[in-house]
Amino acid sequence: MKKLLLLIILPLVFNNLFAQTVAHQRCAAFERGMNISNWLEAPWQTNWPTPDGYSKNDLQLMKDAGIKSLRLPINFAEISDTVYPFDVDTAHVLFQRIDSVIKWADELSMNLIIDNHHGWELTNANWRSHKDRFAKLWGIVAKKYQYLDPEHYFFELLNEPPIAFNDMDSLNLLFNTAIDSIRKYTTEHTIITSPPLGSWGMAYDLYRPQPDTNLIYTWHCYDAINFTHQGLVWNEPYYPTGNEFPTQGDDFYEQFLYEGTKRVIHWKDSFDMPVFLGEFGVSEHAPAESRCRWIEFLAHKTDSMDIPWFYWDWRWDFSMFNGHVVSEDSIIDCFKYALHLYSDTISGMETMPKNNNVYVFPNPITEAFTVSGVGADAQLKITDATGKLVYEGKYSERINASFLKPGYYTLFVNDRNQTSWLKLLKQ
Ligand code: BGC
Repeated sequence: MKKLLLLIILPLVFNNLFAQTVAHQRCAAFERGMNISNWLEAPWQTNWPTPDGYSKNDLQLMKDAGIKSLRLPINFAEISDTVYPFDVDTAHVLFQRIDSVIKWADELSMNLIIDNHHGWELTNANWRSHKDRFAKLWGIVAKKYQYLDPEHYFFELLNEPPIAFNDMDSLNLLFNTAIDSIRKYTTEHTIITSPPLGSWGMAYDLYRPQPDTNLIYTWHCYDAINFTHQGLVWNEPYYPTGNEFPTQGDDFYEQFLYEGTKRVIHWKDSFDMPVFLGEFGVSEHAPAESRCRWIEFLAHKTDSMDIPWFYWDWRWDFSMFNGHVVSEDSIIDCFKYALHLYSDTISGMETMPKNNNVYVFPNPITEAFTVSGVGADAQLKITDATGKLVYEGKYSERINASFLKPGYYTLFVNDRNQTSWLKLLKQ
């Protein structure tokens, strides 16, 4: 009888232990995302918010590239009164623009995050005076958009809580008051939140999951900022161009970039919480190869852990397209394969040799692999996702790969003074 009882109870307990929450499932469904940047969050632009920042066709092009989800940064602060009773101008044209994006996302079956972006100059000293205003805004937004399908529409409380507002308890209080305000209208919708310090991964060390169980957590990665933001005239301070990733003979950036992400992963695993990378990107003024190394490194890391990401941005100053022309032909190669966009898929890698007949089998690699299609005098090099050399030697048909840790690599083959390369995945 006892045995029978155990047989009935055990599966129930295990199912519960590993049950995915609604928030986990919705987070996983983000897959690959794009920030709809430089539009509704940018009141410094003329005629803000311009009618034609993005069209349905732009979103269609994103979808065609393989993007599943959209994050719409919005400057709600601009239209929310700073004095009691903190009214919000719901007749403002900003809401018409938001409504169009909601409609397009619906027609294209894409997920959409309504993201409260710039404009909240919160500090440890002034946040109390903004608390009711912040909660009022979210009550109004939730009331207006409670009808949206909670499987596909999300509310993000605040983009990059500022460094000057780094008191964790106060930030939680501000956020939880806003969450209460949203919950008056909907308990179904998943809310997105993040720790202070500009949603920096390092901040997760001190952060704890919040009481509401229908939350997804996010972080941003622009490490190191003097690399990712080089040459951007609007950035304060200005970071000069020519900054490589990683610098020659110095793995500081690699360590630094690893650190933030590592802490988020540790936090996610410790508390079993859903997380996604809400912004990451490198300025188009960065040296092209370094830019690729950075993007590959981070994309492969998150990808190998099934963590969804949203790239910043599509075709502005972090553009992933040559000449800002959106098409499969003009996407910068490394973005295509690192982010698995357009025709690139992991399984497609076996057929990815560049300009040559080099063929590696198997790929993904397990213990060893064979290289074919090259001359007996060819030289081989393997670099890891950060561009670091991990193998160099003369061609040999079979290469033992047990020294490679799981991850992405590039194999370079120099054959009769011609170099060609292809991507390897070690499992
Ligand atoms: C900011 C943008 C900026 C981007 C990259 C965003 O969170 O709002 O203004 O271009 O990060 O730094």
